[in-house]
Amino acid sequence: DLNVPLDGDRITDDGRIRAVLPTLTALRDAGAAVVVCSHLGRPKGAPDPKYSLAPVAQRLGELLDAPVAFATDTVGPSASATVAGLRGGDVALLENLRFNPGETSKDPAERKEFADKLAGFADAYVDDAFGAVHRAHASVVDLPARLPAYAGGLVRREVEVLRRLVDSPEHPYVVVLGGAKVSDKLAVIEALLPKVDRLLVGGGMCYTFLAAQGHEIGSSLLEPDMIDTCRQLLARAGDRLLLPVDVVAATEFSADAEHTVVKVSQIPADRQGLDIGPDTVARFADALRGASTVFWNGPMGVFEFPAFSAGTRGVAEAIAKVDGLTV
Ligand code: 3PG
Repeated sequence: DLNVPLDGDRITDDGRIRAVLPTLTALRDAGAAVVVCSHLGRPKGAPDPKYSLAPVAQRLGELLDAPVAFATDTVGPSASATVAGLRGGDVALLENLRFNPGETSKDPAERKEFADKLAGFADAYVDDAFGAVHRAHASVVDLPARLPAYAGGLVRREVEVLRRLVDSPEHPYVVVLGGAKVSDKLAVIEALLPKVDRLLVGGGMCYTFLAAQGHEIGSSLLEPDMIDTCRQLLARAGDRLLLPVDVVAATEFSADAEHTVVKVSQIPADRQGLDIGPDTVARFADALRGASTVFWNGPMGVFEFPAFSAGTRGVAEAIAKVDGLTV
C-alpha cells in the first residue's frame, strides 16, 4: 500500500513506503526480482498524472539505495519491458493499478482479465498492503487466486497485533479512532464496541457522529447515509464513546486556510472542521490516562497541514505518556 499523501508530486509522509522495506529487502536478499504494485488515490480507471506513482518510485529507490525501474503503465508495453529486464534482486514499480479499470471493476470477468495479465509478470504473490487488504479488487483478491500467495511481514504483524486487540486486550482498554469515513471504520467499531472501556472518535469521521447528535457541522465532512448508524452506535456505546467538544474550523481545505477553534455547538455554516481542538485533546488525554491497552487508528485531523496537526500530535503525546503500555 504505497498510497502516500502527496502535495503536487512531493510526498508529505513516506511512512507507508518505509513500512514495506523489510519485506522487500527479505525478498531481494532471497534472490527474487520484485515487481511492486500499488494503488494511489482514487483515479477513475484511467491514467491521471495527479495520481502517478512516479514520485513513489523515486523515493523507494532512495530508501532502498538501489535503482527502482518504473513502468509507466500497469500491464502495457512499458510494464512488460520493465519486468522482462529484471534480474534477481532487482525492483520494479508498476504505474498505479487503478489506472486500469479492471482493478476496481465490479465485473468479475474484467477483474480476472486484469489479474491474468498481472499474474503473467510473476511466479509468486506477496501481499504486504495492509491498508488495502479489505478491498475486493483484482490485485487483492483475483491475483492471489492465480499464484502461490503469501502474506508479507507487515500484514502478518498487523494481524498478530489486531488479534490480540480483538481477542484478549488488557483493561482498561481505550480505542482512538480517526480518519475520514465512518463507513470505512464501521466494521472496526462494531467489533470493538463490546470490548472497549472508552472509544474516542476524532478525524473526519467525527462530524457524522456530531451531526447524529444534532449539531450543525457547517461544510465539514459528512456521510449523510451513516447518520442513523451513528445515532444507533451512540445509543449503544453510552458514555463510553467520546466525541470532540471543540474543533479547528477552517474556511477551506487547504494548508493556509483561515481557521479558529470553536465549540462543536458553534461551527459556522461556511467552515469545516479540520482538526480536534485543545479542549478535546485534554478530554481525550484524560480518558487515556490509566489505560492498559490503547489501540489507535487514524489521525484526528488533516495532520499533513501543520495548522491542523496539533490534535493528532496531542493525542500521540498523551498516548506516549501513558504508563506501562505494552507496544
Ligand atoms: C487507504 O489509504 O486507506 C488505503 O490505501 C486504501 O485506499 P482506498 O480507501 O482508496 O481503497
